[in-house]
Amino acid sequence: METITIGLLGLGTVGKGVVTLLQTQAAKIARTQDFRFKLKSVAVHNLAHHQGDRLPAGTILTDKVTDVVDDPEIHIVVEAMGTIAPAKVAICQAILNGKSIISANKDLLATAGEEILQLAKTAKVDFFYEASVAGGIPILRVLSSCLETDQITQITGIINGTANYVLTAMDRKGQDYKTALAAAQELGYAEADPTNDVQGIDATYKLIILSRFAFGQSLSLKDVPAQGITNVSPAQLASANQLGLKVKLLAVAKEEKHQLFSFVGPAAIPAAEPLAHVNGVQNAIAVQSDALGETTYTGPGAGATPTANSILSDLLATGDDIVKGNCGREFNSYRKPAIAKPLTA
Ligand code: HSE
Repeated sequence: METITIGLLGLGTVGKGVVTLLQTQAAKIARTQDFRFKLKSVAVHNLAHHQGDRLPAGTILTDKVTDVVDDPEIHIVVEAMGTIAPAKVAICQAILNGKSIISANKDLLATAGEEILQLAKTAKVDFFYEASVAGGIPILRVLSSCLETDQITQITGIINGTANYVLTAMDRKGQDYKTALAAAQELGYAEADPTNDVQGIDATYKLIILSRFAFGQSLSLKDVPAQGITNVSPAQLASANQLGLKVKLLAVAKEEKHQLFSFVGPAAIPAAEPLAHVNGVQNAIAVQSDALGETTYTGPGAGATPTANSILSDLLATGDDIVKGNCGREFNSYRKPAIAKPLTA
């Protein structure tokens, strides 16, 4: 049985989740696959912060990213650093060294995804990022496999757990914005700096990635008119309730007459709609497509094990490609022709 060697960049919530699942799922993977995984090394920013972290015996903990990306024994690099510039440098270096990449980094994927995908394609390595959108919901695989032959006309997502938590807490518990945001931060859902969560930028990044898969279209930040939840008041939520509506931070992309329209912002939707029932840190994506009509996918949008589970599914796909010599196949919308042009904001 072949051993596929993994290097991990980052040991925060997601990185720790990956370490845990690699251990708990090891026996099942060995039973069901033609390979087993070995986590060889983990690179962290500050060694002192991770002295108490439990890693499998023999795993190297280093503060040098190059110990991972330049290690000839490593087949797959899992990037869970969560920044843009250092993560991009590390990923590009690893690709040039012939390693396949798995990333959960929506900021990077939304802003430099195409460039990295092209690099990975040229280098004939895999580059998967299921965990970058809606954490544990396997939405990218659904869009790129199950719905590949269908014609998608619209996606509507609640894809920022922090914003949804805040709106739900303001609506149901009557909490004020600041108290609700502090609670979301305590739960570990908000980014270290929650600006992107509450201003709709995190949801925009995820919408950009979803649109690639759904429409074969690469939007950029300037294409998406985006607004966050900072100005939503308890009074607005109460009025919406009286009108039978729920206010949600929606991320929408719709293809019409060969144009792609997009929007991120707080919107009032009828309380009977499936998306109106998505509360707290849950995420959901409603997909309109010609053959299926509307399908809705809900689940945890973040958290250690849900996000790590998506990374593990990418690891299995990559491991399978490595043993079959099949790396470099495309797990993204570039298989589809772009059908629509973005409407620039
Ligand atoms: N800060 C993000 C959220 C985490 O609240 O949804 C998952 O991307």
